[in-house]
Amino acid sequence: MSAPIQSATEPVGDVDAGGCDVGGVRLPRPFKVRRLGHFGYNCEHLDAMLDFYIGGLGFIISDQSGTMPARLPAEEQATLSPNEKLLHFTRFGSDHHQLVFINQKVWDWVGKDNGSAGASINQITWQVGSLAEVVNGAEWIWGRGERLLRSGRDMPGSNWHTYLFDTEGHINELFYGMEQIGWDGLSKPREMWSGVMSERPELPQPSEAREIDTARNTGIQLASGHQPTPDAQPTYPVDGIVMARPFKIVGLGPVSIFVEDLDRAVRFYNEVLGFNLRTEVSWRGHRGALLSSGTEHHSLALYEAGLRTELGMSGRLDSMSLGFRLANYRHLRAAVRFMKDRGAEEVSVPASLVPGFDYVTHLRDPDGNLAQLYYYQRTCAPVDPDPHTVSGDAAQWPELIDAPQDVYGGEQFLGPWE
Ligand SMILES: [Fe+2]
Repeated sequence: MSAPIQSATEPVGDVDAGGCDVGGVRLPRPFKVRRLGHFGYNCEHLDAMLDFYIGGLGFIISDQSGTMPARLPAEEQATLSPNEKLLHFTRFGSDHHQLVFINQKVWDWVGKDNGSAGASINQITWQVGSLAEVVNGAEWIWGRGERLLRSGRDMPGSNWHTYLFDTEGHINELFYGMEQIGWDGLSKPREMWSGVMSERPELPQPSEAREIDTARNTGIQLASGHQPTPDAQPTYPVDGIVMARPFKIVGLGPVSIFVEDLDRAVRFYNEVLGFNLRTEVSWRGHRGALLSSGTEHHSLALYEAGLRTELGMSGRLDSMSLGFRLANYRHLRAAVRFMKDRGAEEVSVPASLVPGFDYVTHLRDPDGNLAQLYYYQRTCAPVDPDPHTVSGDAAQWPELIDAPQDVYGGEQFLGPWE
């Protein structure tokens, strides 16, 4: 029998001191993780990884940037292939990037000063509700003595952010305001990348609408950004549409990672980032903890590192799997067939480690990470009673209210507000 997870499952933080005001709702910390926004892999086999995720699973390149690889010494750069000299930002939806690919050698050079060289996860990135939540959250996290990497704003993507380390050295990011890509597929022009910032921003900042107005007035060609190259010829009739592959990925996560000290990691994600423990799992004596930030069954799974070898995975891998939700059950089956036809290996993961799904399977990517494919994950209703409804007479409402258990959960507005 495995030992239970030693962690609080109730919210912790500044509740006793009155809590934090997050949009007029009292919460234990000055931010609330709303959803997984994007994820990054440091890649040993970058060309093959791009083929697996772009050619195979249908991710779309939204931008490629050589800024970070250009920081390597010339002799190091000379060893890189053309793709390795770029960061590849990709998406399946309207968020500018949802999956990012970086060459491992490039990251090892950049990460040697912060101790993250060798990591296979580049970043685990969570959307919070506003720029104020990013900035106030960074200050609160720093005030607790946690390790922050940096705050500011990244380009491409335009999202405001703060980076921090978990107890295992995995880089997490909190962000607001991801650039949204519309029907024309265009990203913002390179000239607009000048908004990059590597320090805590003063608040308030101009809206994106104002930034675009300024760019237009300074003569920047707004339609000069990256345009995706055409996908394969569409030949598959898919639920009424002719598509390039017989399925569509429509959701990202959960993130499943290996940790050396499970109890300590659960405490971090619970107490610092506000995740709640949904359930514990165990297989062959190795424990796992599944956590959620809203009404999803889980968006984060932490597994004891001993599982890595039990599952036949390489010792360099920090990530067990990254979840991809297919549009429906037929798409899920079609995706598995399509990927296996391209040579992907299906890996058996014990069902007891991955509760919350009805049908789920895992494909090994070229670096050895698992792509977790599913179409359905259980949604969990709050366990507390319905909130007491106050209707009308809004002028008499309090400025700061107590939070219903599932506050700020569910569907989110993706991009910047204005
Ligand atoms: Fe990011």
